[in-house]
Amino acid sequence: MATVHEMDHPLIQHKLSLMRDKTTGVKEFREATAEIAMLMCYEATRDLPLKEIGIETPVAPAKVKVISGKKIALVPILRAGLGMVEGMLELIPAAKVGHIGLYRDPETLQPIEYYCKLPGDIDERDVLLLDPMLATGGSAVAAIDGLKRRGVKHIKLMNLIAAPEGIETVQKAHPDVDIFVAAIDEKLNDHGYIIPGLGDAGDRIFGTK
Ligand code: PRP
Ligand code: URA
Repeated sequence: MATVHEMDHPLIQHKLSLMRDKTTGVKEFREATAEIAMLMCYEATRDLPLKEIGIETPVAPAKVKVISGKKIALVPILRAGLGMVEGMLELIPAAKVGHIGLYRDPETLQPIEYYCKLPGDIDERDVLLLDPMLATGGSAVAAIDGLKRRGVKHIKLMNLIAAPEGIETVQKAHPDVDIFVAAIDEKLNDHGYIIPGLGDAGDRIFGTK
C-alpha cells in the first residue's frame, strides 16, 4: 500500500494557515503555494540516489557525495498545479516539466482531460505529480493513469491539502504511488470541496473569482 507522508513542519503549517484564510490575497496565496512546494520538495526527494566523487578542497583531497543523475520530471495538473512548479524548480532546477490539463465537471465531479504535453523521454523519468488539492481523487487517478499509459514507472503525488476520501481513492487505484501532503483535512462537502480546505485553489492562485 502506498505510504502517505504528512509534512507537519511548523513552517509548512504556518504558510498553509495563511493560504486557508479567505482574506489572503492572490499575491500572498501564490507565494505561499510556491514556498510550501519548495519545502515539500526537500522531503519528497530524500531518497534520491547519491554517488561518490573525488574533489580537491582548498586543503585536501576529499571523497564527496553528489546526486547521481536521476532523471526527474515535474508534472503539474493544470491549472492549480502550476503554482507549485516554481518552488520545486528552486531545488531541482534541471527537472523537465510536463503538463496535464484536467478540470472537474462541476455536476458529476468527473475529471475531463483537455491537454497533455510531456517530455519525450517521460518513460525514463521519475515523476513528481503536482496538485495543491486532492479532493475526490478523480483528477489524480486520471493523471496517474495517463502517466502509466505512457510508460512512467515511478510516480510520487504531491498535494498541499488532501481529503481522506481522495487518499483512499488514490491508494485503491494506485497502491504503488506514495502521497506527500501538507495536511489531511476532515471531509468533502456535497459539492466535492475539501472542508475546511482553502476554497478553489485554481481561482485563488490565478485570481479568477
Ligand atoms: C481542482 C484541483 C484538482 C481537482 C481536485 O482543479 O486543482 O485538480 O480540483 O479535485 P478531485 O480530487 O475531486 O478531482 P479544478 O477541477 O478546479 O480545475 P482548475 O485547477 O482548472 O481550477
Ligand atoms: N478543488 C479545489 O480547488 N478545492 C477543493 O476544495 C476541491 C477541489
